[in-house]
Amino acid sequence: MNCTCNVFRRLSRPMLTAETRKFNGRRFMNNTLQSFSMEGKVCVVTGAAGGLGKTFCRAFAESGCNSLAILDLKHEEAQAAAEELKTAVERTKKDMPDFVGIQCDISSEDSVRDAFSQVMSRWGRVDAVVANAGIIHNISALEYPADKMKRLYDINVHGTMFTAREAAKNMIPAGKGNIVLIASAGGSVVSTPQAQTPYNTWKAAVKHLAANLAVEWAEKGLRVNSLSPGYMLTDLLKSIIATDDNGLKDIWESMTPMKRMGNPDDLKGAIVYLCSDASKFVTGLDLRVDGGYTVL
Ligand SMILES: NC(=O)c1ccc[n+]([C@@H]2O[C@H](COP(=O)([O-])OP(=O)(O)OC[C@H]3O[C@@H](n4cnc5c(N)ncnc54)[C@H](O)[C@@H]3O)[C@@H](O)[C@H]2O)c1
Repeated sequence: MNCTCNVFRRLSRPMLTAETRKFNGRRFMNNTLQSFSMEGKVCVVTGAAGGLGKTFCRAFAESGCNSLAILDLKHEEAQAAAEELKTAVERTKKDMPDFVGIQCDISSEDSVRDAFSQVMSRWGRVDAVVANAGIIHNISALEYPADKMKRLYDINVHGTMFTAREAAKNMIPAGKGNIVLIASAGGSVVSTPQAQTPYNTWKAAVKHLAANLAVEWAEKGLRVNSLSPGYMLTDLLKSIIATDDNGLKDIWESMTPMKRMGNPDDLKGAIVYLCSDASKFVTGLDLRVDGGYTVL
């Protein structure tokens, strides 16, 4: 009788691991679906010295990732971001995080190749890659200088392709890997009132790039998805809003069903979902995280 009760008690206990984690002083219990864990995964994020890329890195670190490469044009900022994350995350002594900042210009195929070879010599494999680096100009189509238009394409489209391709070359021998391309809500709808036709058009190309690569590489064990954020309150956008006299924030919020701009943290769940086993039957998806902006 006693024995049955003990078994029953054991079975009715929630399946929690005893381990807890601290991030920026807050304590987390690992009592969520194990498939969302990034533990043991080698992650690479481009354009991650600041902005959304840095938030993606935090999301991976908070989800257990201990091997993380922060690729950015700005080497010192990338190294500083790696150090900042290392001190923000608390691990046990035998589980210390290995986060590194690597210089990389995604518009140069050689530079991307070199950055990935540094990742491979450090960890011997790569599991999740986020092609996040990108730039934007707000210039009307009639006045857009051709050289700027080409530079935008070189970074936002060619750079994203170089990143995805180099990631795939290093993942295919292992027969698995997740690649996420950061597109934009502007790749699905025309964002107004600011003029950004080439940006929106090239972001539509990024979305379609993800879908095409997903099909090309599905049988090699790779998944490729895109993530399209709406208007996110990064430091950069905050500074633009602070000096804007045209009521841009009010206009964008009024055009968003949820009536607010996103916080970078709003993307954490989506990036971990796409890069973890939680989405293991998902490929070729464009996941929009935009408060409903693209639904209208
Ligand atoms: N912030 C938003 O509201 C928003 C919305 C939708 C999509 N996005 C997309 O998200 C991504 C990140 O945007 P963000 O707002 O964080 O931008 P950001 O300007 O804050 O950060 C971009 C980072 O990319 C780096 N970078 C620029 N050119 C590079 C290059 N050639 N090679 C390597 N690194 C380079 C920069 O140094 C910087 O650290 C971009 O692709 C952007 O288009 C942003």
